[in-house]
Amino acid sequence: MKARILRIAAASVLAIAVSAGIAWWQVNHAASSVESGTKSAVPIGGPFTLTDNHGKTVTDADYRGKYLLIYFGYTYCPDVCPTELGVMTQALDLLGPQADKVQPLFITVDPDRDTVAHMNDYVGLFHPRLVGLTGTADQVREAARAYRVYYAKAPQKDAKPDEYLMDHSSFIYLMGPDGRFVGVYPAGTTADRIAQDLGSRIAG
Ligand code: NI
Repeated sequence: MKARILRIAAASVLAIAVSAGIAWWQVNHAASSVESGTKSAVPIGGPFTLTDNHGKTVTDADYRGKYLLIYFGYTYCPDVCPTELGVMTQALDLLGPQADKVQPLFITVDPDRDTVAHMNDYVGLFHPRLVGLTGTADQVREAARAYRVYYAKAPQKDAKPDEYLMDHSSFIYLMGPDGRFVGVYPAGTTADRIAQDLGSRIAG
């Protein structure tokens, strides 16, 4: 598992290091600058159309006015996704009433298996306000491309065709209430750190 994660990390970090890395540095070192995202070399984020865990079609524009915490992953993920979704939702709890200004989103990179019903069951395990988004393969590809998310099926030896893993990059994206990219919290960022950063932005 470790080797796989390192391999994924290498591939995905290379893909977005220039833009996201710089933006994350800005999140850490210029917390007052909500415009940090606009300075990144490669634009991150963009329009998407997906289906939420109640079967409703939604677009990115439906979430304007709130900060978005967005995580791309898949429900069958054995390790990284549940950890990061746990951190993300724990940060919301730490925020208290300020969390009302934040919408957490979980976007699957495995639409073949992550049906609406399956997503609904899964997000409920984490937080009542966590929204799960799935869609057609094309819709998911578009959303992932907008956020520079790397993902690929990783078939397992001696397993059935539907028992595969997904390689995928692992970042919690922060988008502003205007829909613009603010920064990323890399895997391993603590819930305390996220709550602290978000809290200061909401209060500011
Ligand atoms: Ni995962």
